[in-house]
Amino acid sequence: MSGPLILAVESSCDETGIAVVEGGRRIHSNVVASQTALHAATGGIVPEVAARAHIRWIVPALDEALADAGATVADVDAVAVTYGPGLAGSLLVGINFAKTLAWVHDRPLVGVNHLEGHLYAAWLVDPGESERDEPPLPLVALIVSGGHTFLVEMTDHLTYRLLGETVDDAAGEAFDKVGRLLGLSYPGGPAIQRAAEGATRHDAAFPRAWLGDSYDFSFSGLKTAARRTVEAARAAEGLAPDDPDARLSDAATAELAWGFQDSVVDVLATKTIRAARELGARSIVLGGGVAANAALRARLAGESDALGVPLVVPRPALCTDNGAMIGAAGARRFAAGDLATLALDARPSLPLARRAAEVSAARSGG
Ligand code: KG4
Ligand code: ZN
Repeated sequence: MSGPLILAVESSCDETGIAVVEGGRRIHSNVVASQTALHAATGGIVPEVAARAHIRWIVPALDEALADAGATVADVDAVAVTYGPGLAGSLLVGINFAKTLAWVHDRPLVGVNHLEGHLYAAWLVDPGESERDEPPLPLVALIVSGGHTFLVEMTDHLTYRLLGETVDDAAGEAFDKVGRLLGLSYPGGPAIQRAAEGATRHDAAFPRAWLGDSYDFSFSGLKTAARRTVEAARAAEGLAPDDPDARLSDAATAELAWGFQDSVVDVLATKTIRAARELGARSIVLGGGVAANAALRARLAGESDALGVPLVVPRPALCTDNGAMIGAAGARRFAAGDLATLALDARPSLPLARRAAEVSAARSGG
């Protein structure tokens, strides 16, 4: 494999990621310093705590990533960095760090959309892994993370059309909130998956918001239903409504975790498969932290197989935030001549794509 060698920096949320990636695909190194343990104490991310942790870990992460890759900053063709969406304070740490490296070593700077990174994680190849084909285009991608849930059609590299998105909570946010309701550890997603895997009964029924035949998603009703169901289960076990020390039995927790997860997975998978079928997609890509979910992966694997469309899902550690995915997307931006200046600023609400109707309205000046 050849192509530009990219040094990539990711600090949009609570993982400090530095990676060296070649040709937008081959990982030479990928160091992720996770703040999960730090945020477990508060049951969620405190933005200032996250930003300070990035300051603490970013230099050691760079040293390790360069050592793992056997490279120096002078060897790389460009420095790529996430500039949004994400937490402003966290983004600024990575952006300033990347700017400094680019300026001191006289390398081009590339700004990368974090969501485009989650999508391009599907192109990554691990060190030592044999080369495999790229996901064929056009493709349909489901990106599901802690802050975002959307379906896009990708017709060409760096070209997207938004099909639908969540109208309220992101899927990962719902996992995290329901995990907290069930008294599970932070973050809720992996904890709910583990609990659900222990369920012996599979008859907890949670609602699904289909929103007609749109490709939009909604998880706030499910969250409310989960709260009511957990309260009823606690009452049935004679537990006080909000005593955190009185935990629901493991059996009830497992069954509710399974029912909630099944509802989220059902809606995500059904809409993704329908989009792939209706648009004649040649592949389906799954990305973002929730794409690490084993039930979602298994369900989509089965349904995409039945449809005859290949599913490309990065291994779980490449689904959650990491620097390599920024190196993958950064290489495409670099090849397209899409360079940033040293004025690059954080864009906390940066979108990936707009709906077709919004694109044509903007073109006609509407
Ligand atoms: O992409 P990501 O690492 O960070 C954002 O950009 O948001 O996604 C984090 C989200 C969290 O909400 C976490 O609970 C969820 O991904 N997550 C999972 C799993 N692993 C991480 N959700 C369900 N099942 C999992 N195994
Ligand atoms: Zn992410």
